[in-house]
Amino acid sequence: MDAQAMKDRIGFEAARRVDSGMRLGIGTGSTAEAFVRALAERVKEGLRIVGVPTSERTARLCRDLGIPLTTLEELPELDLTIDGTDEVDGALRLIKGGGGALLREKIVASASARMLVIADVTKKVETLGAFPLPVEINGFGIVSTLLAIERAAGLVGVAGTLALRRTGDDPFITDGGHLIVDASFGRIPDPEALSAALHAIPGVVEHGLFLGLASSVMLAGPDGIEE
Ligand code: 5RP
Repeated sequence: MDAQAMKDRIGFEAARRVDSGMRLGIGTGSTAEAFVRALAERVKEGLRIVGVPTSERTARLCRDLGIPLTTLEELPELDLTIDGTDEVDGALRLIKGGGGALLREKIVASASARMLVIADVTKKVETLGAFPLPVEINGFGIVSTLLAIERAAGLVGVAGTLALRRTGDDPFITDGGHLIVDASFGRIPDPEALSAALHAIPGVVEHGLFLGLASSVMLAGPDGIEE
């Protein structure tokens, strides 16, 4: 099975976990997109749900496919969020934000009673950190914020290069109007300590460590789906 076929398969299985009447958080990324396409088929067949998208990109796709949407202002509490991930460890801790939507993804997941993570098996890791950790920062005082991130990381035993994410020659701008720094730490032995240290920096808006948010994971591999 190729990578796209695995995404389609897991998207299909995830869409089957959605019940009529659900208030749904809808993730961002290529795996989440496969889920959205499968969900749209179920909506066409009569499934009644309302979704809160985690990015403008997901919102556009949902609208194109006829999935009813609302906002967290209208519906501040959700039943289930289904989203992809860049890494997941054995304790269901995640690194997310490869697609740059981590802030809205985290707000939506936090507003949800449950979060189902969908990914292919390559995203499963022993220790988080091989995937560069996305950190969303305010555009004011970038250099000071980068220095503060380096210092904070050092205090919890991690180090690595920080790269401002770009789209071509321009900085990548998130849906919230912020910047993203990708922190290549290699290995994050204590994600909770790093999370707290990053949250203490005023220029950091949010980071891609999702701790205590995922309640279950479905991983697609060549031999099928593991849960
Ligand atoms: C976007 C995300 C995505 O869920 C993550 O990057 C995984 O994407 P993909 O399913 O394309 O591998 O966190 O901000």
